[in-house]
Amino acid sequence: MEDKLFSLWPVNILQRVYSNHAQDKNNLLKFIKDYKRENPLGRSGSENSNLYESKYDLIKYIENNETLKKLVMFIGQGFKDVAYHTNIEAWEAKNIKPSNISTHVKAMWFIDYKESGFVFPHVHSGCSWSMVYYLSTSKEKEGDPFAGTHFFSPFNKADSDDPGNSYSHESSRNITPSEGEALFFPSSIIHSTYPNSNRSNKIIFSANCSFSIE
Ligand SMILES: [Fe+2]
Repeated sequence: MEDKLFSLWPVNILQRVYSNHAQDKNNLLKFIKDYKRENPLGRSGSENSNLYESKYDLIKYIENNETLKKLVMFIGQGFKDVAYHTNIEAWEAKNIKPSNISTHVKAMWFIDYKESGFVFPHVHSGCSWSMVYYLSTSKEKEGDPFAGTHFFSPFNKADSDDPGNSYSHESSRNITPSEGEALFFPSSIIHSTYPNSNRSNKIIFSANCSFSIE
């Protein structure tokens, strides 16, 4: 029998550049401006501080907004790629054919962080994968180490310096994408942001995804 590697409980986070970012950024900012004007209160969440969050209903706008629709196509492909890669072993074990799996971007929203705005540690429920896309970041502090998304390890931290478990030495990881990049991550991973230490706003889109067997 050949060797078999069981890749159990993998935690994969995909960082990917949106190639239309430069040409579409202003249209997406305009969408956000119009949305905020029509929905001045947004959504209030107990995990949020000093920010504007839209409702989770942005998918309904894509039929009338080609730019938003293109972004959702990019998001859907990212979800599909990371989920297919992560589930290779599990789907094989359960006799599930990847060609029978359908991808559903179910919820989408944006967050406009004001100065000192942040999100407490939380998970996303009712989905399997989530995403954050950095639409607009501060130009005041190039390379601000606290401008990213902070992910917490779901495992116990390794308690030795043994390089054999280097992969689990970190109890958390702060990943700071550049403007125009997205992170795709398991919805069950606890994540948060540091307070925005810049005067200019940081704006992100976020989305949740589910998969079904057809
Ligand atoms: Fe989140």
